[in-house]
Amino acid sequence: MKGIILAGGSGTRLSPSTNSINKHLLAVYDKPMIYYPLSVLMLAGMKEIMVISTPADRPRFEELLGDGSELGISLSYEEQVEPNGIPEAFMIAEDFIGKDDVTLILGDNIFYGQGFTTLLRNAIKHHKHATVFGYRVKDPERFGVVEFDHQQKVISLEEKPVEPRSDFAVTGLYIYDHRAASFARKLSFSKRGELEITDLNKEYLKREELDVQLLGRGFAWMDAGTHDSLFDAAEFVKNIQQRQGFKLACLEEISYYMGYIDNEMLMKKGKSMEKNDYGKYLLEIAGRKHTQQYWESIDQNPMLGLVENE
Ligand code: DAU
Repeated sequence: MKGIILAGGSGTRLSPSTNSINKHLLAVYDKPMIYYPLSVLMLAGMKEIMVISTPADRPRFEELLGDGSELGISLSYEEQVEPNGIPEAFMIAEDFIGKDDVTLILGDNIFYGQGFTTLLRNAIKHHKHATVFGYRVKDPERFGVVEFDHQQKVISLEEKPVEPRSDFAVTGLYIYDHRAASFARKLSFSKRGELEITDLNKEYLKREELDVQLLGRGFAWMDAGTHDSLFDAAEFVKNIQQRQGFKLACLEEISYYMGYIDNEMLMKKGKSMEKNDYGKYLLEIAGRKHTQQYWESIDQNPMLGLVENE
């Protein structure tokens, strides 16, 4: 399974904050926005991940995240010249995907909840052709909307409908088989001048190959694409972190508990930032008594937020 983070776009909704910086590099409380989607892919077990951004912003993402070796993963970078729509990511990443399955996450999407990693890992394990995740929202007209029957079989999909047929938004996390690129290539531009991810999903739906997984009320899903939602997301992260003492989307912590980096590497990274909270947190983890051997396997490590298989 390959992973893609789409972090391009025009960012006009956050202007002027994004006039000279890419939205996904803005902080959501104490770390850059892109850490959150990257943490989702890492927790799901992906080690080969491509970040797609604009030609102007690509060097900044490379500077921030490097080739991934400090996290024990492989990161590559590609450019989307114009914000032509989400499905274009699959054409850009076609060689990278090859014959593998692929998970795409939008760079401004934040997921959190007990058991989320388990749910995603199970979805990946059982996934056949296309899997999307539905989440109940108060304002479905802002999103792709999925309607399904009592057996969770998808009936319809619509992008930003004026009169939504359900309250379930399609989140910005999508799992596809290797045909995503060839299906994307056949799509036409919508009225708003973009290739629509909803149209790609409709292609799978037409073939009866689209599954929807619902994220229940115990999960939090946010897109941080407007000033209000960015503020809300930051507040959410701050509250959870201060209450529990854990950090959300701390990439080095995830790498450590996944067994990708050792104590020495974690210590080194912590020391390089020891004057701030993030660095102190890494040093605290590195100093904890329990090591990787404490749990019989990575999958039993409660620090990764995994729960019993459903
Ligand atoms: O967040 C989930 C929603 O994302 C889905 O429910 C919708 O079906 C889907 O169309 C999308 O809606 P948005 O209106 O939120 O899409 P937006 O244009 O804001 O782009 C979402 C992210 O993808 C954002 O981080 C920028 C990035 N992007 C977007 C486009 C269109 C790109 O990098 N390139 C693009 O061409």
